[in-house]
Amino acid sequence: MIKKHFGWKQTPFTREIPTRDLFQSEQYQELEARLQYMIHERSFGLLTGDVGAGKSTAIRALRDRLHPSHYVFLYLSDSSLKPRDFYREMLLQIGIEPMFLASDLKRQFKNALIDIFENEKKTPVVVIDEAHLLSPSMLQEIRFLTNFHVDSLSPLTLILVGQPELRDKLRLRSLEAISQRITTRYHLVGFTFEEMKKYITHHLAVAGEDRQIFTEASLQKIFDQTRGVPRLTNRLCTECLLDAVSRQQQLVDEESVDRVIEDNMF
Ligand SMILES: Nc1ncnc2c1ncn2[C@@H]1O[C@H](COP(=O)(O)OP(=O)(O)OP(=O)(O)O)[C@@H](O)[C@H]1O
Ligand SMILES: [Mg+2]
Repeated sequence: MIKKHFGWKQTPFTREIPTRDLFQSEQYQELEARLQYMIHERSFGLLTGDVGAGKSTAIRALRDRLHPSHYVFLYLSDSSLKPRDFYREMLLQIGIEPMFLASDLKRQFKNALIDIFENEKKTPVVVIDEAHLLSPSMLQEIRFLTNFHVDSLSPLTLILVGQPELRDKLRLRSLEAISQRITTRYHLVGFTFEEMKKYITHHLAVAGEDRQIFTEASLQKIFDQTRGVPRLTNRLCTECLLDAVSRQQQLVDEESVDRVIEDNMF
C-alpha cells in the first residue's frame, strides 16, 4: 500500500532491512568497532541497550560479516533455557548430535569448541541475546565458559546481549566473578534528533525516495514520542505513512503524527 502510493521500490521502516542497508550512525560504527575487537581478541563482551535500540540488529550485521571459513557463529536468543537445553542447542548449531546426560553435554560442548579452535583453526563466536533473562544456573554456565582456556588462551568470543537491567544485574556481588571477566562493554541508546532525521532519510532513500517527505515539525513530534529509539521510530513512521496514504497526501505533516497518536495507533 505504502510502496504503491509513493511509487517506491520497497517499503521503508521494516524489520527485514538487509544488513548492508543499515543506517551507520556514529554510535553504530563505534559499536561495530567494539564487536570487531571482541572477535579479534576472542574476549568476553557485554552489549546492553535500550529496548528496541538495535542490539539484535547489530548482531545480525556482525553475523553477516563473519566469514564462515574463519568463524563459527553460534547464536541463542531464548535465554530462559536451562543449562541442559543451552548445551543441546549449541551442539545442534555446530552440527553435533547431543548426548543425553547434562554432564556429557557440557563436556561435548567443550570438546567441540576446542576442536573448532585447534583443528579447524576457526574462532567460535557465541552470542547470547536477551541475556537479562538468564537464570542463576545459566549464569554459572556462562562463568564456566569465561573460565575456559586452552593453553592459557581463550578459544572463543563470548558476547552477552541484553536490556539495561543486565548491566545492573551484573553489578551484584554474587555475579562479580563474571563481571570482572568482561573486557569490552557497550551501551546502545536511541538516536539524537539530528541522527533520527538522518535515519528516517536513510530508510526513505533505501526505499527509493530522495526527498525528505516528513516535514520538520512532524519530525520533531516523532522524536518527542520515540526518543529516537529505532523500533519506535519505525512504527510511528509507518503509521504516519499509512495516514498519508489514506488521505492521498504525498507529505507527512504534523497533523498526521497528531492523528496517529490521538487515534491510539501508537
Ligand atoms: N542501524 C540501523 N539501521 C536500520 N534499522 C535499524 C538499525 N538499528 C535498528 N534498526 C531497526 O530497529 C528495530 C529494532 O532493533 P532491534 O530488534 O535490533 O532492537 P533490540 O535492541 O535488539 O531490542 P530488544 O531490546 O527488544 O531486543 C529493528 O526492526 C531494526 O530493523
Ligand atoms: Mg533484541
